[in-house]
Amino acid sequence: MHDITIVLNGTEHRLQVQDHELLVELLRDRMRLTGTHIGCDTTQCGCCTVHLDGRAVKSCTMLAVQADGGTIVTIEGLAEGSRLHPMQLAFSQEHALQCGFCTPGMIMAATAYLAEHPQAGRAQITRALEGNLCRCTGYENIVDAVARVAANG
Ligand code: FES
Ligand code: FES
Repeated sequence: MHDITIVLNGTEHRLQVQDHELLVELLRDRMRLTGTHIGCDTTQCGCCTVHLDGRAVKSCTMLAVQADGGTIVTIEGLAEGSRLHPMQLAFSQEHALQCGFCTPGMIMAATAYLAEHPQAGRAQITRALEGNLCRCTGYENIVDAVARVAANG
């Protein structure tokens, strides 16, 4: 077991984690933050994407112990109270989801990308989201939503 300290959605937690415990397991099974999804076991789908120190990471591909000292934001931490994050709003306005399974990961990947590339155009956005798979939408509306946020600054 390892002792770790993380700041998760604004709150500090001191936890004991096992050697083999994945970050996604810690988030979902112990912290009950089930908005972070598991869609594969091959690091391909991106459904498990969260922010670690402001960068998008696939939480199925990291050990929980590797997050020690880090600041993590999950989809549950993105809205401010009842006010949706602009990316969440844009996904709603652009009908950028159907079943919604990929949506938390898409939103976390997109927000991290735009934080570093606020002027991104459609081609860049499409490339940036290559690590996130969606089986429903055909991606166009997802790119529309992210482009809408970029256009609004
Ligand atoms: Fe598919 Fe993490 S669950 S990439
Ligand atoms: Fe169903 Fe993307 S909305 S997988």
